[in-house]
Amino acid sequence: MSAATTPVLELRDVSKSFGPVVALRSGSLAVGAGSIHALVGENGAGKSTLVKVVAGVYRRDGGEFRLGGQPVDFASTAESKDAGVAVIYQEPTLFPDLSVTENIFMGRMPLGSGRLSGRRIDKGAMHAEATALFQRLGVHIDPRRPALGLSIADQQIIEIAKAISLDARLLIMDEPTAALSGNEVARLFAVARSLRDEGRALVFISHRFDEVFELCDTVTVMRDGSYISTDRVAETTESQIVAKMVGREVGDLFPKTVAEIGEVVLDVQNLETAGEFHGVSFQVRAGEIVGLAGLVGAGRSEIARAVFGVDAYDAGTVTLAGKPVPAHDPRGAIRAGMAFVPEDRRQQGLVIQGSVGKNIASVIRSRISKSGLITAGSEYAAARPWADRLEVKTNALDMKAATMSGGNQQKVVIAKWLATNPKLLIIDEPTRGIDVGTKAEVHRLLSELAGQGLAILMISSELPEVLGMADRVLVVREGQITADIARDDATPENVMAAATRSSEKAS
Ligand SMILES: Nc1ncnc2c1ncn2[C@@H]1O[C@H](COP(=O)(O)OP(=O)(O)OP(=O)(O)O)[C@@H](O)[C@H]1O
Ligand SMILES: [Mg+2]
Repeated sequence: MSAATTPVLELRDVSKSFGPVVALRSGSLAVGAGSIHALVGENGAGKSTLVKVVAGVYRRDGGEFRLGGQPVDFASTAESKDAGVAVIYQEPTLFPDLSVTENIFMGRMPLGSGRLSGRRIDKGAMHAEATALFQRLGVHIDPRRPALGLSIADQQIIEIAKAISLDARLLIMDEPTAALSGNEVARLFAVARSLRDEGRALVFISHRFDEVFELCDTVTVMRDGSYISTDRVAETTESQIVAKMVGREVGDLFPKTVAEIGEVVLDVQNLETAGEFHGVSFQVRAGEIVGLAGLVGAGRSEIARAVFGVDAYDAGTVTLAGKPVPAHDPRGAIRAGMAFVPEDRRQQGLVIQGSVGKNIASVIRSRISKSGLITAGSEYAAARPWADRLEVKTNALDMKAATMSGGNQQKVVIAKWLATNPKLLIIDEPTRGIDVGTKAEVHRLLSELAGQGLAILMISSELPEVLGMADRVLVVREGQITADIARDDATPENVMAAATRSSEKAS
């Protein structure tokens, strides 16, 4: 692409406020055809707000906005779609009860401008079209099945199929990889590259720098709602980007301090759920961080959910501080002293319409309601220290969780569970979607809590996080614990080997 070419997308000094909250102060971004442009910044920097202006979700307060050189001003998402903009959000937005095909062609069947318009559409033709799209993307998804129950990866692919069928010239992906496994990320990247090679413009938002460096050619940094810089990826470094993002020194990641390892807190024996995991036995001691490593889909989250009682299990026992924990009874588990920060925090961890303070205080209701009466004051008093601790960036605890940035929502869920003062913390992907500065803060916090005697079971797909934080690494493969490696012996090689060794032959 020559520098003289008109960018597909051009934003200059775009601003957007919500009442007193300035979400976007001065957002600028220029993306050319045939380019994959990274947009990075801390939680709450304004990335998603910028995207939503382009998508027609919000109308900007000020600044310039051009598509293909033409000034535009979208009053609705439909207008933005018609202009060739497709957005894949942090959370897919499919209709669960509709079929995959219906989701792809949603809203375009009667008055669409695509190539299906102008004639009566029979379902068979639509399914065939969907199948053809999936073939092109190299994926296998049954177009007739409902969207309900599809993995996030597949839901995103459907959103992309929809974008292609609309012939979008600009595709924006807002943290698309946050919930994907390695293979799924590779598949998504292959699709993104082929769209780039067709001459489309792509915007990619991620907190993972390795992905930015692997996939993108250009990177724009935002901070506090404002544009900071744009560089060729080949001409910059991770530490330069981080410095621009945070505008201050970031503490070391994985500031592991050695804690005294005490009594057994969690004792799991022979846990089994048919088809998911079997013969799972392990212990976590006071002050110990045990990392549960393995590939996505190996059964780590399933084991965690069974231990906490969200899911039932078929056989085995769970004991906490010497007392049996009732099966399939999360309330009982909480009473026994367990806390569980789930993987899918938005769906499982947060009352999205509730305030931040309510969310944080929700599990400690019984403790703070002295006379059976819970006042907003008592909730906020309980929530405040944890919100501050995790740097939940919100003007007030009465802000709705739904209006917080994605990363800040995650911090609220973590804060909520820490406020229960648990004996055991099970945390699934502790820093997914969390920016680099807060990541260090979460790690410091986990380390410190372990130092105070908390037992921590940490599931993480990020190997550096597991190796950096855990006293002991348990590797799960195909529903079984295949290795138990002490901190000093754990290396990326031996953990990966235990996670991936094929069952054919182990030498
Ligand atoms: N509808 C809204 N009402 C009030 N405030 C909002 C609204 N939407 C966003 N904000 C605020 O604007 C700021 C920017 O949020 P935004 O979601 O754009 O951040 P982000 O860069 O995408 O962060 P993350 O990396 O955590 O996803 C945040 O402080 C957020 O709380
Ligand atoms: Mg966001």
